[in-house]
Amino acid sequence: MSDKTSLPGHSTTGAGAPAPSDRNSLTVGSDGPLVLHDVHFLEQMAHFNREKVPERQPHAKGSGAFGVFETTEDVSRYTKAALFQKGCRTEMLARFSTVAGESGSPDTWRDVRGFSLKFYTTEGNYDLVGNNTPVFFVRDPMKFPHFIRSQKRLPDSGLRDAHMQWDFWTNNPESAHQVTYLMGDRGIPQSWRHMNGFGSHTYMWVNAAGEKFWVKYHFHNQQGEKNLTNEEAARIAGQDADYHRRDLFEAIARGDHPKWVMSVQVMPYAQAKTYRFNPFDLTKVWPHKDYPLIKVGVMTLNRNPANFFAEIEQAAFSPGNTVPGIGLSPDKMLLGRAFAYNDAHRARIGTNFHQLPVNRPKVPVNTYMFDGNMTYEHAGNAATYAPNSQGRAWADGGAAPEESWEVDTSLVREAYKLRKDDDDFGQAGTLVRDVFDDAQRQRLVDTVVGTLKSGVRAPVLERVFDYWKKVDADIGRRIEAQYKA
Ligand code: HEM
Repeated sequence: MSDKTSLPGHSTTGAGAPAPSDRNSLTVGSDGPLVLHDVHFLEQMAHFNREKVPERQPHAKGSGAFGVFETTEDVSRYTKAALFQKGCRTEMLARFSTVAGESGSPDTWRDVRGFSLKFYTTEGNYDLVGNNTPVFFVRDPMKFPHFIRSQKRLPDSGLRDAHMQWDFWTNNPESAHQVTYLMGDRGIPQSWRHMNGFGSHTYMWVNAAGEKFWVKYHFHNQQGEKNLTNEEAARIAGQDADYHRRDLFEAIARGDHPKWVMSVQVMPYAQAKTYRFNPFDLTKVWPHKDYPLIKVGVMTLNRNPANFFAEIEQAAFSPGNTVPGIGLSPDKMLLGRAFAYNDAHRARIGTNFHQLPVNRPKVPVNTYMFDGNMTYEHAGNAATYAPNSQGRAWADGGAAPEESWEVDTSLVREAYKLRKDDDDFGQAGTLVRDVFDDAQRQRLVDTVVGTLKSGVRAPVLERVFDYWKKVDADIGRRIEAQYKA
């Protein structure tokens, strides 16, 4: 009996020949054994065994959508980057994620949220791979793998462990600012549409005259910031682990296209040397009274992926992908990340990850990178080395350097030099006292105490009370009292 199918054409093998059947394997008589030459069946089984790629090490659970970024303001005095010239509209992809959970983990677990953007510009792909918080837990990339492991699972039981998390945080007091955000209301956004995004690091912008500036990116959502309480989040986690993924997909499908206004804070190049704290320290924000927001443009997400695996799982973002007019900065975390991501993609997706449609730039790619697994795009018989005498080399960039800065000193392994206002707890205390209201402060206390009661023990417990007293004496006292009550 043949089934009716709504798709035109016949099902085929991977080689394009008509598939004998997608319902029945080839057997010796209807009750007999399977045979080895059922090539179509064997191909289905073998492909199935290989149809997952490893999940991202951090930020495994997420989703995203395509859209457009429109530069609505003239910021050409700060950057020559084509995508940030007034009137320019650039196709883009955004991916949102949680950090610590695995690829099937509930969207509403308390965590920092990833905010990854890929702009397909006329000068190549520009990636901004930030979070929904403006700061981070550590300021030296050497600590990153340790940090992530402490937030993941115990080696013996495979369980998540609050004791291990607080052990890492209290041993690394520079985490206080980010932990305050995480334990505060922003630790569980209502949806990705209702959260803000940040480039977090300090980046460099360079204008057409070669003048350099330091910038920080902010993306303010236009849907209104909304967060979930612990109780709401726990209930939703049980009912719909994909709550945020579903929310974004359904909103875009019904034509409700979320928007974010992008602004930058701009610091004149020379001021970085004398500013009262190190402006490249990723655990700090720049006060808006010193560096007000300057609007740049609007990002709108308006198209769902047609295929989640091809366009979201295989998407490869890297903070190392910059374009002319945009550079990195002496932020050590950013410099560490400039290596880490493309290496992760080579391991996770494959050597030629950049050839996949979602990662492919919308401009010609003239590269001598040669062969490797699954090479699809190639330059025919063009020379594979440069310079060459075959008249087939692309123009060389010559001596034009990346957008960069000057250094003249010896190599060391040490922390940033402390300046007058550099400390680990000051900005976290400001967040608690000046940004949170009474109700938010109480929810912060409740959340911290809740995590402590899920298995945090001596000596970490005492360090947690001390940590919060350094953030804010009153909050620390309240956390200790409520825990001991
Ligand atoms: C994902 C490394 C710091 C935001 C990843 C991945 C790696 C990584 C290996 C997985 C990439 C993949 O498989 O596609 C690092 C290292 C860091 C660091 C070594 C520090 C030295 C940060 C910081 C932020 C951040 C500071 C935000 C400000 C993200 C986001 C993703 C991610 C949003 C998900 C990317 C996506 O959507 O595909 N990170 N990371 N990371 N990281 Fe980091």
